[in-house]
Amino acid sequence: MSFKGKVVLVTGASSGIGADVAHHFATKLGAKVAIVGRNENRLNNAAEEIKKCGGSTPLVITADVTKDAARIIDETIDEFGRLDVLINNAGYGDTTPILDADIEIFDRLMDTNVRSVINLTKLATPYLEKTNGNVINVSSMAGIIPYKEHFYSISKAALNQFTKVMANELGPRGIRINAINPGFIKTGAFDAAGWTEEQKQKLFDKIGKKNPLGRIGEVTDTTKLMAFLASDEAAFITGCLYVVDGGGMAANNFNQD
Ligand code: NAI
Repeated sequence: MSFKGKVVLVTGASSGIGADVAHHFATKLGAKVAIVGRNENRLNNAAEEIKKCGGSTPLVITADVTKDAARIIDETIDEFGRLDVLINNAGYGDTTPILDADIEIFDRLMDTNVRSVINLTKLATPYLEKTNGNVINVSSMAGIIPYKEHFYSISKAALNQFTKVMANELGPRGIRINAINPGFIKTGAFDAAGWTEEQKQKLFDKIGKKNPLGRIGEVTDTTKLMAFLASDEAAFITGCLYVVDGGGMAANNFNQD
């Protein structure tokens, strides 16, 4: 599998799932990558890591996906002149019960996890059409199963449905769009959501032990799936949701308590 000469744009690429997939495309698959995030220092560190491991110099775009979608696409095209793969990975969770939550929490979550994805996909379409490119949305098992992550679950369900609806519009233009639905993956997302080290370890141990494959996910698990979906090996696959969860869904292993 090679992405030599191809351009991959990854949002939320300064940490976790996004950082790993950008690193893989750049260092193992020969792609040119544009990496997007809000924290310039962390993005620069991710770019340095890529260069250190032999990848070509990434385009670093310090931007907020909810505000800067047009600039993100423009800067990528200005730098590389093409776009082959858009990975809509930026996202976050919120565990406030709906009855306790201000509706603004819902608005913010939908803005990042859904609205920005729709906007970026629309803006990327003319360029993806030229390359027969594709889109991968990083959703969640919470988009299929009603997690007690409340609004988060609703946002990821919307993202899944967007993936399927949009496949109908993009297919005739030669563009594929799919979503991955990870179960629990070891990343900084839990820190960002305010989990303590102890809470995290307890959750990882509990979920990991109950998963049929005996562990929770690593970022390499999501990366390998995305590399496949972005490649020509998946040329006949669009509008699909791919669960990557160590069997967690099959074992009804999704409640945190
Ligand atoms: P993470 O917190 O390490 O990565 C998320 C990245 O998105 C961060 O770098 C964050 O700064 C960025 N981001 C958030 N809002 C943004 C905005 N408005 N503009 C630009 N960047 C923004 O967490 P992780 O786990 O790598 O999350 C990546 C994606 O995977 C998210 O969409 C998350 O919902 C999804 N996911 C994660 C799971 C897990 O267990 N870690 C499970 C299922 C889905």
